[in-house]
Amino acid sequence: MHRTTTIPVQRTKESRLPGLDINNLPFGTTPTDHLFIARYADGEWTEARIEPFHQLTMSPFALCFHYGQTVFEGMKAFRLEDGNVSIFRLQKHHERFNRSLQRLNMPDVPYELFREGMRQLVALDHRWVPSGKDSALYIRPFVIASEERIKVKTSDEYLFLIVGTPVGHYYARPLRVKVETEFIRAADGGTGYAKCGGNYGGALLPTQRAVEAGYDQVLWTDAQTREFIEESGTMNVLFLIDGILITPALSSTILDGVTRDSILQLARARGIKVQERKISIRELEAALQSDTRVEAFGAGTAAVVAPIESITIGDQAYDCYVGEDAAMFSFKTALQAIRTGKAEDAWGWNEVVVVE
Ligand code: COI
Repeated sequence: MHRTTTIPVQRTKESRLPGLDINNLPFGTTPTDHLFIARYADGEWTEARIEPFHQLTMSPFALCFHYGQTVFEGMKAFRLEDGNVSIFRLQKHHERFNRSLQRLNMPDVPYELFREGMRQLVALDHRWVPSGKDSALYIRPFVIASEERIKVKTSDEYLFLIVGTPVGHYYARPLRVKVETEFIRAADGGTGYAKCGGNYGGALLPTQRAVEAGYDQVLWTDAQTREFIEESGTMNVLFLIDGILITPALSSTILDGVTRDSILQLARARGIKVQERKISIRELEAALQSDTRVEAFGAGTAAVVAPIESITIGDQAYDCYVGEDAAMFSFKTALQAIRTGKAEDAWGWNEVVVVE
């Protein structure tokens, strides 16, 4: 068992924070002053420590560079009204982290190591947590295979790191998406539900093609039939049709999104009917062609709620409702209120870090 209270800390000699406007940085560009790092060897995690942010020196033979054993999480910490900091749904993220690690045949990260490493890093770098509207400290825990071996094998050695960066908007405006029917994101039995690097690498070319054609993102369809909606870009996707909140059910191809889950719980608590089920392109198109109001949005840690203003199916572009009174914005506001301590944390989502 890890003695988490004894994580050694080496502090930076000079913070990079003075002079930075942490409420106005491009997404994911600026690391905080410190990082957390631990090493896995001989079947256990060792050498957990917090150090000034630094480069990694690794052998070009390290397995992570070759066969894809890389797993990550995307999390956020928020400035509470009372000045303390809250990490959002730490336990749920940790559970998903281990599910992803298991799928990639990588070792679990114990809860105490994950929690204490993150809490202590956030406490040390708490001045980097922005307080602006839509701003947060984005936290990126990740594990990479570090064994030096040019052979396709499960690595026997790993590094677990946690880094952080102050962020604002991921998307600056409502999205125009196209239904993708050539490429797929994930197939049944594959790694779609895991947060592994390969899922994101494989999405880059289709996304670039969509951007070149004038869209912001793709709406992924299933591998077998290309008839059912899966996710949008790097986010879960939700629709509000006829007052019913509909999203694809979790499966081996759908990421168990923490923002997705939080919005579904908020909606259910408000008495909104929620359906987690298959939704076909034909069903969506019929709704878009009717007089019914259709809201569509992506949900993810980075993007929070990303309104979709238009969906192109084949050659036909359809408008979705993005008016100010759209329910998706009220979900976002409610989520924000809980995360910043303005509303009651009824589900115990906030992992509070008390700062001096
Ligand atoms: C997130 O929403 O946190 C993600 O991980 C998506 C992307 C930034 C990789």
